[in-house]
Amino acid sequence: MTSTSPIAVYPGSFDPITLGHVEIVERSARLFAKVLVAVGQHPHKRGFFTTEERVDLISKSIETIPNAEACAYEGLTLDFCRARGATVIIRGLRAVADFDGEFQMGLANRDLAPEIETVFLIPRPSLQFISSSLIREIAMYGGNFSRYVTKPVEEALRARYVDRGDRG
Ligand code: COA
Repeated sequence: MTSTSPIAVYPGSFDPITLGHVEIVERSARLFAKVLVAVGQHPHKRGFFTTEERVDLISKSIETIPNAEACAYEGLTLDFCRARGATVIIRGLRAVADFDGEFQMGLANRDLAPEIETVFLIPRPSLQFISSSLIREIAMYGGNFSRYVTKPVEEALRARYVDRGDRG
């Protein structure tokens, strides 16, 4: 079954991981032998949590999924896939607004590495409007964001925004 159950990389900023991401990890873990949930570097995004903090929050948020693992990488996602023997990239497709960017990145990856397939999963409708920056914004202004994140992420956001008043 190796040809239909390869190693998959789910790359993203995960700043922080949300329940929308966790749902994608759960579903990917049923499709693939191993899922690497990998924090990559976005060229234009200024990080809120450090890479180490994000990896730690991912680990805690997916600890019940035995074949999923949190990690981080620098450089191109493709090079990371090759280094880890992964042949699938997972991406979540939430709305039409995601499509153009994902289409361009998918085509570029396909051109550069035809041996790696990009697989798009559509998140559950109730989670489709969530994004990491939206949750940070709700947290920053004292709103109730707990239903969009796991407990460790909720605690980390509260520690930054509520307890320390960080507006970073
Ligand atoms: N649930 C909730 N939110 C989701 C989601 C889901 N299922 N899927 C995506 N999102 C949100 C994220 O929270 C994020 O929100 P934000 O903008 O508020 O932070 C947004 O959708 C998109 O983020 P993400 O999926 O993390 O991708 P990204 O656009 O930040 O890209 C990398 C991050 C690391 C994947 C990308 O920059 C990359 O590949 N970097 C390496 C260099 C490279 O290979 N570039 C491509 C060359 S072809």
